[in-house]
Amino acid sequence: MSNDPLLQPYQLKHLTLRNRIMITSHEPAYPEDGMPKDRYRAYHVERARAGVALTMTAGSASVARDSPPVFNNILAWKDEVVGWMKKLTDECHDEGCAVMIQLTHLGRRTRWDKADWLPVVSPSHEREASHKAFPKKMEDWDIARIIEDYADAAERMKAAGLDGVEIQAYGHLMDQFWSPLTNDLDGPYGGSLDNRLRFTFDVLKEIRKRCGDEFIVGVRYTGDEDLPGGLTKADGLEISRRLKDSGLIDFLNVVKGHIDTDAGLTDVIPIQGMRNAPHLDFAGEIRAATNFPTFHAAKIPDVATARHAIASGKLDMVGMTRAHMADPHLVRKVIEGREEDIRPCVGANYCLDRIYQGGMALCLHNPATGRELEQPQTIKPAETRKRITIVGAGPAGMEAARVAAERGHDVTVFEAADQPGGQIRLTAQQERRREMISIIAWRFEQCEKRGVKFHFSTFADAEAVLETNPDEVIIATGGLPHTEVLGSGNDLVCSAWDILSGDVKPGSNVLIFDDAGDHSGLQAADLISQTGAKVEIVTPDRSFAPEVMAMNLVPYMRNLQKRDTTFTVTWRLMSVARDGNQLRATLGSDYGDFRRERLVDQVVVNHGTRPLDDIYFELKPKSSNLGEVDYDALATGGAQSIRKNPEGSFRLFRIGDAVAARNTHAAIYDALRLAKDL
Ligand SMILES: Cc1cc2nc3c(=O)[nH]c(=O)nc-3n(C[C@H](O)[C@H](O)[C@H](O)COP(=O)(O)O)c2cc1C
Ligand code: SF4
Repeated sequence: MSNDPLLQPYQLKHLTLRNRIMITSHEPAYPEDGMPKDRYRAYHVERARAGVALTMTAGSASVARDSPPVFNNILAWKDEVVGWMKKLTDECHDEGCAVMIQLTHLGRRTRWDKADWLPVVSPSHEREASHKAFPKKMEDWDIARIIEDYADAAERMKAAGLDGVEIQAYGHLMDQFWSPLTNDLDGPYGGSLDNRLRFTFDVLKEIRKRCGDEFIVGVRYTGDEDLPGGLTKADGLEISRRLKDSGLIDFLNVVKGHIDTDAGLTDVIPIQGMRNAPHLDFAGEIRAATNFPTFHAAKIPDVATARHAIASGKLDMVGMTRAHMADPHLVRKVIEGREEDIRPCVGANYCLDRIYQGGMALCLHNPATGRELEQPQTIKPAETRKRITIVGAGPAGMEAARVAAERGHDVTVFEAADQPGGQIRLTAQQERRREMISIIAWRFEQCEKRGVKFHFSTFADAEAVLETNPDEVIIATGGLPHTEVLGSGNDLVCSAWDILSGDVKPGSNVLIFDDAGDHSGLQAADLISQTGAKVEIVTPDRSFAPEVMAMNLVPYMRNLQKRDTTFTVTWRLMSVARDGNQLRATLGSDYGDFRRERLVDQVVVNHGTRPLDDIYFELKPKSSNLGEVDYDALATGGAQSIRKNPEGSFRLFRIGDAVAARNTHAAIYDALRLAKDL
């Protein structure tokens, strides 16, 4: 048996967990009608099969009707959940993986307009900055009914055969009782710490009464709110001891911080550019103080750090949650000694940011995640070996090359630059976004292992492609910034990419016109303002950088707000003209015939890209499918079969921004769903 600390079993009460790696609760927003149906189950079973010891399903499964699903949560207050959870649990158990679920009442961390239009409740009238609902201050009958709701939900999970439940107590109703900032009830549930914890212990006692002593029950809670007037670390240690001493629970799952603002949430769940494992020592302190089973997750993305967390005795179970979204087969690769093959989580947080916008959690660079029913997490070898030629080694081209190589094909890649990466390489030049380069580096290594032939610094034309005598050609040439959006003065502006690449030096008084709303605009603002320059970001939208999304915005704002930066929404750049040695920028409005002027020394435009598609159109008439794609097959996971031109000796496809400006996920998804069947 391996002596890897990560692979040692762990005994939690009667339950033997086969190793020390768990997936902590995270709602990927995959439920259909509030139920964990086929997509949901497939997601967990894929990870169970690959060896994870414990999957904490859901994330904030709702125990009550007045805790409406704010990010498409599982409705654990409905009896029909039992059948769905039983199916999921049985299938994970068959794979040797333990299953629990996180239950919660969201309290004020939701909105009254999400489901039944019931008021949200909390132990005070204080609203949460993120969700903005003013709560009803709870009455005695609210408290009594919600205690029963928790116990009912736990009973349902026991009936479904789960190994246990975890009660959520950070930012939700449970710890809204705990924190002096959100509890101004009088006794018996407000005031002293004893009183503020009473609701929790009432809930836990009721769960024990209904589910018995054998059922596993834990609490995921904040041990330090890190907020003036909130729960301190000393409070957290005291609460930890009391939870243990109550004899009502079986494990602690430690969190540090507060989640009532985007910034707070981002410190609890750090994103790229932020420190790895920032709260691991804190969790270790709680374990040392309580000598009780301790779980924890917060940006422990790599196996070495996870191993250290266990070997050093800081944790009993280490959560690698986003790491498992990026690579569901992480544990299998550890067991097989193939750690270098693990697709790394790059902390892009596309997954989490999407659920707060009402979407489902998708991994920026693993498009099969959440799509296990249609897209493969393991590439099957092809029956016949083909010659596949790919033009462009950005994220789309590299994914196509990886997948084609894993199919066993003979793959050739042409790239004009001297190294792979395309737009990702530009992004990753900035230290804060350096982790992004792993998207390319991982694929490059996988390709090298399988003998893909790369031709860098080669601007391939149609002839060069045809010389490879290909069966399939994939054009992944990306796009170039499009800045010609002005009535006049297009020649006086530069693109955000010019700034990111260093081709154009930042000015000292700069207007950035950003109507793409993606990372490039803010990244350029970050670089320019860092030099001490004055920067104004202008957008015609109602809010700036909508594509960047909530948690990704946090590091930008932390940089930009401390510098000389302003944000101007609902104005559009109309024209630019020279004015002495300065530039006069004229702004207009979509709302009426209004004008504003600015005198600056540099104007940067971020308006997305236009496809670099010459080679595609050159090759198109010679191809057998004339470039045509069967969209039904593409969308439903089927293979391409269009033949239009009997003279054509190869099929031709175009993916990523070479088709139209989109994002990294779209580019990689284009590549996977096409190449998996070639
Ligand atoms: C899409 C997504 C949804 C999440 N939802 C929840 C949730 O409902 N409840 C919870 O306690 N944590 C939730 N989390 C946080 C994770 O459990 C975990 O603490 C976090 O991702 C940090 O661990 P990691 O760095 O290993 O991913 C969520 C995370 C993700 C990525
Ligand atoms: S989207 Fe980013 S943070 Fe989320 S799992 Fe994928 S790589 Fe990790």
